[in-house]
Amino acid sequence: MDFKLGFIGGGNMSTAIVKGILKSGVHSASNIWVSGPHIENLKHWSEMGANVTTSNREVFKNCDMIFLGIKVTKLNEALHDIQRSVSSKKDVLFVSMLPGIVISELHKTIKSYLPLVNATVIRIMPNTPMTIGEGVCLYTPDNEVSDSQCSKLEKLLSSSALCEKIPEYLMDALGALTACAPAYMYVVIEALADGAVKQGVPRATAMRLAAQMVVGSGQMVLHSGKHPGLLKDEVCSPGGSTIAGIAALENGKLRATLINAIEASTIRNKELGNK
Ligand SMILES: NC(=O)c1ccc[n+]([C@@H]2O[C@H](COP(=O)([O-])OP(=O)(O)OC[C@H]3O[C@@H](n4cnc5c(N)ncnc54)[C@H](OP(=O)(O)O)[C@@H]3O)[C@@H](O)[C@H]2O)c1
Repeated sequence: MDFKLGFIGGGNMSTAIVKGILKSGVHSASNIWVSGPHIENLKHWSEMGANVTTSNREVFKNCDMIFLGIKVTKLNEALHDIQRSVSSKKDVLFVSMLPGIVISELHKTIKSYLPLVNATVIRIMPNTPMTIGEGVCLYTPDNEVSDSQCSKLEKLLSSSALCEKIPEYLMDALGALTACAPAYMYVVIEALADGAVKQGVPRATAMRLAAQMVVGSGQMVLHSGKHPGLLKDEVCSPGGSTIAGIAALENGKLRATLINAIEASTIRNKELGNK
């Protein structure tokens, strides 16, 4: 793919995305631009072969497809930087990973800073497991985005993520599930390993096997096609050790806690867009 790809903001999520893209070989590093206020924080991008700059304008001028990889609170500042460079019409596809900012709102904000720009927008919700090719990336295009632009995005991301086109009204809740819940799973893995350590298992062994067990359990749900409740029943022999553990989980209200966690992240996703 020989178009020029830009990233405004080269932090954790943009880095995860670009690593996946470069690993798959679908796009060359020399055709990628990234900007951020501190050049020293973009060192890993130069090491990957991308063009780095402190100027958002430079990314905007060079690129046709631009990922917005900044915090919501930095959006106006970034667009204000670009504003001064726009003196003629230009078509740009913005790919926004900003939580809570709905497409119509993003269009309004872009228009207010960049009236000459013909902007199309795809809203995405990526997750950090994309770094190792095991991610999920949700996306919603605006009405002007063509099928070929959606295919272009999928081609860029599909080797690092399962890409799913979703209606925008599901973005906050599904984003909580796919982009926030990896953090919940790290806590689960750590806590399970703590449990094994308490029983005398060495820490490194406990952590490695807990992580593999979580991977295998997810794969069982995906590959067996069975309901997770049924898979759980298959592990629980009557009077056995697994059902004893399940009873302990129910006493600790694990299900209610996870449901509440998704609710809290969904609400926060919406709130972030109102900042
Ligand atoms: N991390 C995730 O799992 C995840 C998942 C889905 C969506 N998101 C969303 O993705 C966005 C980025 O998240 P992140 O985790 O990558 O955050 P991050 O690591 O803090 O990255 C933000 C980047 O933006 C740069 N930046 C700050 N002000 C800027 C400006 N005016 N112009 C250009 N760049 C600027 C920062 O540079 P300096 O560090 O040099 O200041 C930093 O590299 C956020 O909106 C987040 O909510 C994150």
